[in-house]
Amino acid sequence: MILVFGSINLDLVARVRAIPRPGETVLSERYDLSFGGKGANQAVAAARARRDAALAVRMASAVGEDDFGRSALDNLARNGVDIAAVRKVALPTGCAFITVSEAGENAITVASGANLAVSSDALPDALLDGVRVLVLQMEVPPAEALAVARRARARGARVLLNLAPAPGEAEAALLPELLAETDLLVANEHEALTALALLGETETDAAAAMRRLAARCGEGGIVTLGRAGAVACTTTGETLRAAALPVQAVDTTGAGDTFMGILAAALAEGMALAPALSRACAGASLACLSPGAQQGMPLCAELDRLA
Ligand code: RIB
Ligand code: NA
Repeated sequence: MILVFGSINLDLVARVRAIPRPGETVLSERYDLSFGGKGANQAVAAARARRDAALAVRMASAVGEDDFGRSALDNLARNGVDIAAVRKVALPTGCAFITVSEAGENAITVASGANLAVSSDALPDALLDGVRVLVLQMEVPPAEALAVARRARARGARVLLNLAPAPGEAEAALLPELLAETDLLVANEHEALTALALLGETETDAAAAMRRLAARCGEGGIVTLGRAGAVACTTTGETLRAAALPVQAVDTTGAGDTFMGILAAALAEGMALAPALSRACAGASLACLSPGAQQGMPLCAELDRLA
């Protein structure tokens, strides 16, 4: 089983010419409502990418008792994600306010709501026994992510941590432990540089920053570089590179989540890191061709055709 312990959001997306600066108001024709949340996105990406439907993808999360929560759960189930470990709580379902520029860049504000109630204690030991790969991000309380990482890892799970959104001062104290309970770390350039600075180390190059972060993890780390692909460095000193596909991005929202989900599925199915990295890079490129976080996430057959 792949267990994704993370957030579920509804995304409210407005397309604008340019993302507003502080104090500025910009007009957009309309908004679109789509499914999101880093955790949910990664679970959907993994479910679509897996070769064998018998490999369960389960989501551990929380939603509110509201329409957003109900439709988010329907969407996960429709995508083949097991929702038995998603709790209903007395907080509003998470909601992300996203602006996407003409250039396909985005700015996101997340109102966490029910995601703040996601907890390790809600998961029985028996559920963690069957976890092959645990997938974590930073959109639920990091102390809970750390707690579940410890428990799952002690039971033999491989822990993949996506350091997104970038940690802040509030997470600094917990970061060393979180990395120590991680097997494979994934971050973009900004996240890698921010995390390293929080640890009191400095580096101007993101790949060099990731090398240092990766040294604190079990297997290594991957820095994602947008259109330049991704670089992995392992604790055994290996460096692997993978290219992105040359696409004209419509919306990069969810590209990092697509990368994570595909990587998790490939590793859980026994693929080696190098081909898994290439598959994740190519799949993340494809996701940028469709609006919204989940819509363009590729199916296994599409990924197989690329290889
Ligand atoms: O990574 C993209 C996601 O970040 C969006 O779906 C939004 O919900 C925010 O959580
Ligand atoms: Na997209």
